[in-house]
Amino acid sequence: MISEFMTGEHRHCDAGFAKAESAASEDDLEGARSAYAEFEAALLGHLAMEEQVLFPAFEAKTGMNGGPTAVMRMEHDQMRGLLGQMQRALSGGSLDDFLGLAETLNVLIQQHNMKEEHMLYPMTERALGGEATAIIERMRAL
Ligand SMILES: [Fe+2]
Repeated sequence: MISEFMTGEHRHCDAGFAKAESAASEDDLEGARSAYAEFEAALLGHLAMEEQVLFPAFEAKTGMNGGPTAVMRMEHDQMRGLLGQMQRALSGGSLDDFLGLAETLNVLIQQHNMKEEHMLYPMTERALGGEATAIIERMRAL
């Protein structure tokens, strides 16, 4: 249940990202800006759900603080760094810079999501499965 919910979030973010990239590649600056703003909000919200609810619950339950969640948090920081750069590229009106950064972010996100979907979410499911409903509620409430 946690896995399905979180994986659904990934697909939702992916769709928003694709929309922003396709607007940018069609030279539609305003379209790229508005699709990007939506995507950025969705991704930042998703990262917050993990960092503020899911990871702490997993860490508390398993005692694993320096393991997979530490790696995921580090990758989240890299994503936020790229988001900041993409935002600046759009503000400056440079769609080429934006698209270059988007390519880098896309690779990072796909590798990151793969690790979460195939490793961390199933581990989380095993550790926290009984509390899934409450945890999803807490994530939704953020
Ligand atoms: Fe993540």
